[in-house]
Amino acid sequence: MERTYVMIKPDGVQRNLIGEIITRFERKGLKIVGLKMLQMDRAMAEKHYAEHTGKPFFEGLVSYITSGPVVAMVLEGKDVVATARAMNGATNPANAGPGTIRGDYAIEVGRNVIHASDSIDSANREIAIYFTESELCEYKKVLDDWIYE
Ligand code: GTP
Ligand code: MG
Repeated sequence: MERTYVMIKPDGVQRNLIGEIITRFERKGLKIVGLKMLQMDRAMAEKHYAEHTGKPFFEGLVSYITSGPVVAMVLEGKDVVATARAMNGATNPANAGPGTIRGDYAIEVGRNVIHASDSIDSANREIAIYFTESELCEYKKVLDDWIYE
């Protein structure tokens, strides 16, 4: 089954949104297969956001993402990469629709509460930054048969 990397950013943690956000993914029917809280350091941030190196917002992004603990998770489900992106909403919360996480809980692009991988390749790359294979749980849930036909 497809997997993606989702991360509640430091502003989401500070604003007491951990439970609210995890609940949304659980209620959708996605399966949490990895979960932890951690403090990113600069090296980790540069690795995660390598594609943005040199952009005008890069330094601000690194200092934001390392400013406090984050909640890292791996979600599993059918089309989960696209689904998590859709649930997060547009990068800039000003353009994110109501009902999305960024649309409901954020105002500015530099404080947009949540991350999700943008492709299956990115998901594989990002999951490997945060989790070892043994930290990911492969398991069956009784509700699976009520979520998938
Ligand atoms: P992530 O899921 O966090 O990767 O967001 P995204 O994939 O929707 O956007 P992208 O990868 O293009 O940008 C990564 C992150 O950099 C965004 O989520 C923002 O936090 C930040 N960012 C992107 N563009 C800007 C910008 O123009 N200004 C500022 N301040 N931050 C930006
Ligand atoms: Mg991105």
